[in-house]
Amino acid sequence: MATFYLRQLLVGRDVGKTSSVGRQMQNFVYLVGDRDSGECIAVDPAWDVRGVIDVATADGMKLVGAFATHYHPDHVGGGLFGFGVQGLPDLLELQACAVHAHKLEADGLRKVTGISKTDMTLHDSGDKIRVGEIEIEWLHTPGHTPGSSCFRVKDALIAGDTLFLQGCGRVDLPGGDPEEMRRTLTQRLSRLPDEVVLYPGHAYGGERAPLGTVRDTNPYFPRVPAEE
Ligand SMILES: [Fe+2]
Repeated sequence: MATFYLRQLLVGRDVGKTSSVGRQMQNFVYLVGDRDSGECIAVDPAWDVRGVIDVATADGMKLVGAFATHYHPDHVGGGLFGFGVQGLPDLLELQACAVHAHKLEADGLRKVTGISKTDMTLHDSGDKIRVGEIEIEWLHTPGHTPGSSCFRVKDALIAGDTLFLQGCGRVDLPGGDPEEMRRTLTQRLSRLPDEVVLYPGHAYGGERAPLGTVRDTNPYFPRVPAEE
């Protein structure tokens, strides 16, 4: 038995309530796990690590790991425009847990957060990670960064900065690659069914929506004919 647990936490509203920078950035942190086993992981725990742990604890859940969608400091912690963002190192101080990342993000993650590779469990596309009895599938979706990843769990797609309700992640930052982003949006993610719900890394244009709706309203994520 497993009961799916998913919490979407908006920085500045649900956690990090006193952070005006965090509020402006509109980042989401997610808690994903199995209510029956009482275990969960946090996706992109940044800005207010204590607040994220407190939400999990209040729900009767124990944080057993962290997943990084990509290495940018607003998702994993580090220096952002001279402003120090809480993130993975602060989490590891409060709670020993595994940090899961794509193998191509390991160097960036180390440079941005200072955590060592021995703290990381590295993945590639297709890996399946169990939290209690809930299975999370790792999808490598490069474009925003080389190792940017989305996580498919049940009928949810946690997409980091790969896809928002409106628009997609920037490809003009270091490590960005417009051609890879095009392939991600038109090939790697194109087979996901309409009913899968997009949970983006920022509240750009909305907080969540079924992919069918996103395909109808987001020109960066068009419907792709089956034969392509
Ligand atoms: Fe990013």
